[in-house]
Amino acid sequence: MVHRSDLGLLKEKLVAAEAITVLTGAGISADSGVPTFRGADGLWRNFRAEDLATPEAFEQDPRLVWEWYNWRRELIATKQPNDAHKAIVELERRCPNFWLITQNVDGLHRDAGSRNISEIHGNIWTVRCTQCGVTEENRDLPIAILPTCRRCRGLLRPHIVWFGESLEAKDLQSSYAALQSSEVCLIIGTSGLVYPAAGFASVAKEAGAFIAEINLDTTPQSALVDISLQGRAKDLVPLLLEPL
Ligand code: OAD
Repeated sequence: MVHRSDLGLLKEKLVAAEAITVLTGAGISADSGVPTFRGADGLWRNFRAEDLATPEAFEQDPRLVWEWYNWRRELIATKQPNDAHKAIVELERRCPNFWLITQNVDGLHRDAGSRNISEIHGNIWTVRCTQCGVTEENRDLPIAILPTCRRCRGLLRPHIVWFGESLEAKDLQSSYAALQSSEVCLIIGTSGLVYPAAGFASVAKEAGAFIAEINLDTTPQSALVDISLQGRAKDLVPLLLEPL
């Protein structure tokens, strides 16, 4: 449910803000047809993301993990950015200090045109050699299983931050810098269960930002945000751009 007064207040805050940070999760891409992780359609062959997106799962059965990523790559390749991704590009255009932090690895924000962005969990179209560490773009569909490095023949893995792994230092630094200096922080389509992103709302709040959440549901962060708008990202995010 969306209260008109909440929407109006958020729009005022956004228009006045010199610095905005947006944090997104799988819910924003759900409206493009990409399954979320914890929703009803999030399972693949009965595996949960937590079963497959781990270094241990890859060590034990790299073929299985690559098959899952192949499935996701094939699916994502057919999807387009939606009106919520596009509205975020426009917010960036209007705001002098704008930063987008996404947990999504689907690349749809970049496809839409977002530029000031940290893809903190990586990108599904980038691979990394487990031997020499080189990363490169790879858009093969399907990717050869098992893929190997052109330089050293080492096994390639998705360049994605898996459960139990650390975010890259540059992404953490840019995220915290943005959160701590933002006047408004928008949190869109994330269940708020996976750290460190789940703690980002508190970081922005402690730094004095006005926090708004857009989600189909309530989340663990709903209690601390200033405004919680319930509904689909593709319907609600574009409303934020409309004149006051
Ligand atoms: P989840 O699948 O955990 O949560 C998706 C959230 O989006 C839920 O809170 C839904 O209520 C909400 N949602 C669904 N459809 C929506 C819509 N149309 N509009 C608005 N909200 C909607 O996804 P994340 O929070 O992104 O990590 O998950 C965090 C991380 O856990 C992912 O990045 C991934 C996963 O395991 C890795 O792959 C490393």
